Amino acid sequence: MEVIICPSYEEMSIMAAREVASLLNTKPNAVLGLATGSTPRGLYAELVRMHKEEGLDFSQVTTFNLDEYVGLPDDHPQSYHYFMREHLFKHVNIPEQNIHIPSGTTRNHVAFCEWYERRIKECGGIDLQILGIGADGHIAFNEPGSSLGSRTRIKTLAAQTIKDNARFFEKEEDVPIYAITMGVGTILEARRLLLLANGENKAEAVRNAIEGPVCSMVTASALQLHPRSMIFLDEAAAGKLQMADYYKWVQQNKPGAPKPEV
Ligand code: F6R
Repeated sequence: MEVIICPSYEEMSIMAAREVASLLNTKPNAVLGLATGSTPRGLYAELVRMHKEEGLDFSQVTTFNLDEYVGLPDDHPQSYHYFMREHLFKHVNIPEQNIHIPSGTTRNHVAFCEWYERRIKECGGIDLQILGIGADGHIAFNEPGSSLGSRTRIKTLAAQTIKDNARFFEKEEDVPIYAITMGVGTILEARRLLLLANGENKAEAVRNAIEGPVCSMVTASALQLHPRSMIFLDEAAAGKLQMADYYKWVQQNKPGAPKPEV
């Protein structure tokens, strides 16, 4: 696990966007796994900027989103379909047919989830999966207690997540209680994982995920099992890490990193 502590949310977003851009520059037809929520907004904004100002090309990219609320149609302002359109898709050139987001309105969840898993495989697997982390340590909607081998399925949200996400809705009762989500096992099959976290309210979840035991109570801890994961944090989210100084030292002394001028 590579832990990168950034001075601010803005720098974290830019550094993470550079990872995505460098993948697209070496593999223009990459398959990206995408997350929603407030955390990756800055990353998407930077990708949009790179597309508009630097010609970053998405014309061969395929995407798979992690999750969607059950019961929300695509055009609902709180749906993840809507979020992705507003923050990324309508600003870049990803072909419509290459975009995959779990359906919030399917009537056959089991068949849909099986198709989603199959589709990821048909497209060659996910090259780079972007992730956020919930205050309870979840990735996607894999709430505490989710199997670390879980696959795409319908999942009941935890009370904490409903509370956290109520800020996007008029009232807490409007937050759907079910979501379709990729499983932890699905996520771990991506070739690379890139998790972002900012803010003090994520500090405990971040510490548990990075420095705690691997366990289903903190599904983000499964990243410890992945050979190529990067975790981008701002200072506040890194605030409870025991080894923060070491992670910074590693970044400053990366083999091949330019030495500061004396
Ligand atoms: C969303 C997702 C969730 C969020 C997490 C953090 O697609 O997968 O796991 O990443 O709930 O949400 P924010 O970024 O809003 O704090």
